[in-house]
Amino acid sequence: MSAANTTATYGSVAKTLHWATALLILTLVPLGFIAVAWPYDTSDSLATKALLFSIHKTLGVGVFFLALARIAWALSQPRPVPLHPQRRLETTLAEGVHWALYVALVAVPLTGWVHHAATTGFAPIWWPLGQTLPFVPQSTALAEATASLHRAFVFLLLATLALHVAGALKHHLVDRDGTLARMWPGRRAPVPAAPGRRHAPAPAAAAFGIYALVGAVALLTAPGAEPRSVAATAIAAEGGATLEGAARWRVESGSLGFTVRSLGNPVTGRFAEWSAQIAFDEEADADGRHGAVEVLILVESMSLGSVTAQARGPEFFAVETHPTARFGAEIVAAEGGGYEARGTLDLVGASVPVSLPFTLAIDGDTARAAGTVTVDRRAFGMGQSYSDETTVGFAVEIAFELEARREDGAPGAGPRS
Ligand code: HEM
Ligand code: HEM
Repeated sequence: MSAANTTATYGSVAKTLHWATALLILTLVPLGFIAVAWPYDTSDSLATKALLFSIHKTLGVGVFFLALARIAWALSQPRPVPLHPQRRLETTLAEGVHWALYVALVAVPLTGWVHHAATTGFAPIWWPLGQTLPFVPQSTALAEATASLHRAFVFLLLATLALHVAGALKHHLVDRDGTLARMWPGRRAPVPAAPGRRHAPAPAAAAFGIYALVGAVALLTAPGAEPRSVAATAIAAEGGATLEGAARWRVESGSLGFTVRSLGNPVTGRFAEWSAQIAFDEEADADGRHGAVEVLILVESMSLGSVTAQARGPEFFAVETHPTARFGAEIVAAEGGGYEARGTLDLVGASVPVSLPFTLAIDGDTARAAGTVTVDRRAFGMGQSYSDETTVGFAVEIAFELEARREDGAPGAGPRS
């Protein structure tokens, strides 16, 4: 059998690449679903989940490079012509499906890879390529968007693959022609050679178009795209933090995240829905207080890469029973410069004293603040069955940054989303 294609049949290189990618895709799809659904409730099951994800990602990156090789080869080769060119609709559909499968071969692994690079997921890729990608920032918003795209493109791939396999079987069982035989390893195809045909543009345009459409819908319905208003409205209704004589500040934008080490790698999560009411004055009052702060966090809005569902469960954030967390503190000057919010963090039913040092820069009516504090998850009774620090670290670093604007007097005016 020749290595190259003819207009009548596929050569050995095209066949090998076709069946190698088919086998990998048919392994990766169940592996992806199983890895996502795998429980997280004990150290052992977490280690297995990480292993499943590492296999998934490593094979997936392999598919990406194999797909590039396959596309380069296909472009350099003549294409076996359709056996029934007079069946226009069927031929166009088959061509569209082939294009869509080629798009999937690049788009599915690439979105998975960018998602991984944007979060530095807890399960590493084993190729010696590093865990990040050039031009891909560490960003939870990007990670959420690419996870939605990865999932949407997987479902599109499954739909086109169903059509593709149904078509191949129809040719074999109903038409009893040589379509499957000419892709089957080793067999000689009972097909006469015919002149080559150029690709028609419509099926290719349809394949790219459907990916663009499904991608746009996936992005618009991604969890990160929701406005951040519930926490802001709730805390504004409560009146929030006040301090005699201190100006009130309204949070305009910001981020609240946390990082924990899991199996030796830092894993970063974030809360999409939170808000803070702040009273602050650069002059301290008689008790040395510069202000006060009340933070309300909708724990339900938490995401932690591919283990979000488990992190929300009763063992960790227990969102069903403890949907909100709060931090109430007074603001004092910190010893080494900057400020400190000294107060209590109420999370999953535990109240723990926390002192959060932060930097503050005020420019006219705008203030920028950022800080980090490390807490011990055991103080909140979180992850009690993970007594081994190597699977889920005890130390959790909480980090925030925000930009706030001075409010002009009207207490209770609701912060914007
Ligand atoms: C698992 C069952 C599969 C079967 C039975 C099958 C069967 C076939 C057959 C018979 C052809 C030749 C069509 C023709 O000559 O007109 C073909 C071509 C093709 N298959 Fe599959 N396939 C399978 C899986 C896959 C998978 C998983 C992918 C990729 C995601 C894929 C992508 C393609 C592409 C892109 C072509 C067109 C090749 C070209 O002409 O450039 N197939 N397949
Ligand atoms: C052709 C290759 C690939 C296929 C067919 C595939 C398929 C899948 C499937 C079926 C899921 C489950 C979807 C769900 O239930 O949400 C999944 C999830 C996932 N895949 Fe892939 N994948 C591929 C490549 C990759 C690559 C290269 C990476 C990373 C380097 C990756 C990372 C992930 C991650 C992190 C998830 C979980 C996403 C989430 O949290 O929703 N995948 N994949």
